[in-house]
Parts: sequence; C-alpha cells; structure tokens
Amino acid sequence: MLSSSLGHVVKAGSIVLLFVAGFVMLLSMYLTRQPSFCKPPPRNQHQSTKPILLLWFWPEGHKFDLSDCQPEFDISECVLTDDRTIVNKAEGVLIYHKAIQSDLSNLPPRHRPPFQKWIWYNIDPPPKTQNLTSLNNLFNLTMSYRKDADITVRVRVFSRKKAEEFMLPEKDKMVCWVSDEEDLGVARDYYNELKKHMEIHVFGKAFGKPLKPEHYYSTIASCNFHLSFENSIHPDYITKTVHDPLVSGTVPVVLGPPRKNYENCIPRDGFIHVDDFPDAKALAEPWLQKVP
Ligand SMILES: *[C@@H]1O[C@H](CO)[C@@H](O)[C@H](O)[C@H]1NC(C)=O
Ligand SMILES: *[C@@H]1O[C@H](CO)[C@@H](O)[C@H](O)[C@H]1NC(C)=O
Repeated sequence: MLSSSLGHVVKAGSIVLLFVAGFVMLLSMYLTRQPSFCKPPPRNQHQSTKPILLLWFWPEGHKFDLSDCQPEFDISECVLTDDRTIVNKAEGVLIYHKAIQSDLSNLPPRHRPPFQKWIWYNIDPPPKTQNLTSLNNLFNLTMSYRKDADITVRVRVFSRKKAEEFMLPEKDKMVCWVSDEEDLGVARDYYNELKKHMEIHVFGKAFGKPLKPEHYYSTIASCNFHLSFENSIHPDYITKTVHDPLVSGTVPVVLGPPRKNYENCIPRDGFIHVDDFPDAKALAEPWLQKVP
C-alpha cells in the first residue's frame, strides 16, 4: 500500500508542507554548494558565516516558526529569516510570485549585492501565472513543481515496505471526488460524462458541499477510489488532489499530464489514469460490475 513518509505533516496541510519542502530543497542546495562555510550557530546573525536565506513574502500569508525547520528537517547549515532589514546580507532571497505587485513596487531593493541571488518561487500552473514579462532579467533561479526548474519542490510520496503496518480504512463508497477548487476547469467535461454512467459521491466547495477540515481526510478514506482530476493540464502539474488519497489509503483516478509524467512522481501501479481507458463509459464499466 502507498503512503507518504511525510503523511503526518501532510495532514497538517499539504500547501504548508509544500512551502516547508521548498525550504528543505533550497537549503540542501546550499548545503551541497557551501559545505566548508558551515559553522556552529553564530550568536550574532549579522556576523553569520552561514548563508542567509531571506523569505521575502510569506506564501499565501501562511506563517510558521522558521526555527522549526531545524528539528523537523534537519536544516542547520543556513540562516533562515524573514527579517527584511538584513536584505543586503542575504545570499538568497526567496520571492513568491503571486505576492509580487504588478508595478513591482514590493520587490527587494534593485541594487543588490553581487553575491545575492533572487529565487522566483511559483506553485501555480501557467494560466494562473501572470505578468511574467515584467520579471525579465530580475531573477537568478527558479523554484517550482516543474522538473526543469533550478530547484524542484514537490510533496514526495514513498511506498511503505512493511504492509502489515498499514490498515486499510473502512470503505462505504466506491468513487468520490472531494474538491475545494473554484473551477473544475478541463476536468468538468470528463466528470459530467462519467457521472452519466455511475454514481460519484462529491464533496467540497467545488460542489457546494463544503467539508469541515477535520472531515477532509476521513471522507477521502471512506471511498475506494478518488477522482484526482487537475483543473488544467501541464507538465509536472500534479497536485495534492493525487497525494491526499494516497496518504488516506484510497486509489486516485487521475486526469492531468500523461501517465508517464505521473510515474515520475508515484509508483505506476498506485493509480488509475483516465487515459488507460478509451472513454468515460469504459472507465465506469469495471465499477458498474462491482456495484450490487
Ligand atoms: C499584470 O499587468 C497588467 C499591466 O501592467 C496589470 O493591469 C495587471 O493587474 C497585472 N496582473 C497581475 C495579476 O498582477
Ligand atoms: C542575478 O541576476 C541579475 C539580473 O540578471 C544579475 O545582474 C546578477 O549578476 C545575478 N547575480 C548572481 C549572483 O548571479
């Protein structure tokens, strides 16, 4: 059975985890590049010989204690800070794309020290990533879910070796879809077609049936299969809609980039791809035979 080694953290909120994972990736980059510069924690941050990574915006306003990165992720070779007053000492400045104002007035000072790298951090798919041309020649590194980013950040999924540790949750529904998306996007047509052929239990704001946060995972867990449909299709754009069923003991049925792309992220027998079937009717067929 599949699970995530970070499952407990995922439950605290996959989005927040993605940000934390971002730091981990970034820091591991510094670790590999600057091993000899690392010394025990300095008393005065300003005299630090460790590279300083400045978080310019808190993504989506989700704040957490940066000192948690040490015990949680074993990050100790860098100084993480959100203190903008030391921007001139920062080797890396992490800038969350969505928070940048269109007139660029909330970016760090343009006259940066020669060693400073600006890192463009984006978690959104291309249609939701706007005003890129105004950012030409500002950034040194990219950080996103894409494999071709300088720093790729993803929620990692691992399969568990010891099956006996896993108890399959009790199931009382065959196929569900839990989504809080405002817009189901490209997935809507396939869903509309599929529901002509079989019952789909839907939950979440997308369907006008909001769930309390504490019921989110248990609802997914109560289903055998979960429709993990992305609302737009782009390379590597594989979101928590796939990871959340996996950590809940539910098989995701994915719609998004090609199967091969998913297989880079999760084991090939851990999901069903809509492209495995010629159409929605054919996908529904095996389920229809199982439903009494
Ligand atoms: C993108 O830039 C245009 C023109 O500068 C501006 O009107 C618009 O608000 C910007 N959009 C975003 C999301 O910042
Ligand atoms: C970062 O990019 C800017 C803009 O292209 C450039 O002027 C600067 O030299 C680069 N800094 C580093 C450390 O590569």
